[in-house]
Amino acid sequence: MKSRVLRLGLSSVAVVTAAVCALLVLPEGRGPAPAHAEVNAVTFPPLDQLEHYTTVRRGVTREHMLTSRAALDAIQAGQPVPTGTHVVLVDYQSDVLHRYLVAQKMGEGIDDWQYQWFWPDRSVKADENTARCYSCHQRSRRERQFMFTFTDALSFK
Ligand code: HEC
Repeated sequence: MKSRVLRLGLSSVAVVTAAVCALLVLPEGRGPAPAHAEVNAVTFPPLDQLEHYTTVRRGVTREHMLTSRAALDAIQAGQPVPTGTHVVLVDYQSDVLHRYLVAQKMGEGIDDWQYQWFWPDRSVKADENTARCYSCHQRSRRERQFMFTFTDALSFK
């Protein structure tokens, strides 16, 4: 009798521990609902077809910003960029390729952008919360294609 109580007690401790661990293992903000897909519809950009329209330097960081000629033409004509457009931030740390951050126009809607982080081998950073990309880029104005470097794209020849 006594040992049965003890065993029950231990097993419920195990259940509670497992539940707590499961919670701890889940990354911040992660619920049971798939609020943000980590692998989404964003495709790896055709880098050799894109224009390098500006560079941002900060300490050891060097960022090359790329997009298509068609997107630059649209921006300069005050039009939304074509569906499918990639805007890429190629991130170098101390001159070593670190990652590609990609924004892609997924549809006609002005808000229809998705974001993705690719490693140098072009695999997706599986645990990235791409909703964070979107929420920060939303601070950049809608009519600026949610691009922080919009004015560089506007003046690029
Ligand atoms: C906290 C704000 C913030 C977050 C989060 C963020 N970005 Fe950005 N992003 C910027 C800023 C600011 C720039 C302009 C370049 C710079 O200052 O380094 C930029 C530039 C870019 C560019 C080049 C085009 C542009 O908007 O100028 C791309 C593409 C990009 N980010 C993609 C991403 C992706 C993909 C993620 C998520 C993995 C992400 N960003 C997360 C702030 C953010």
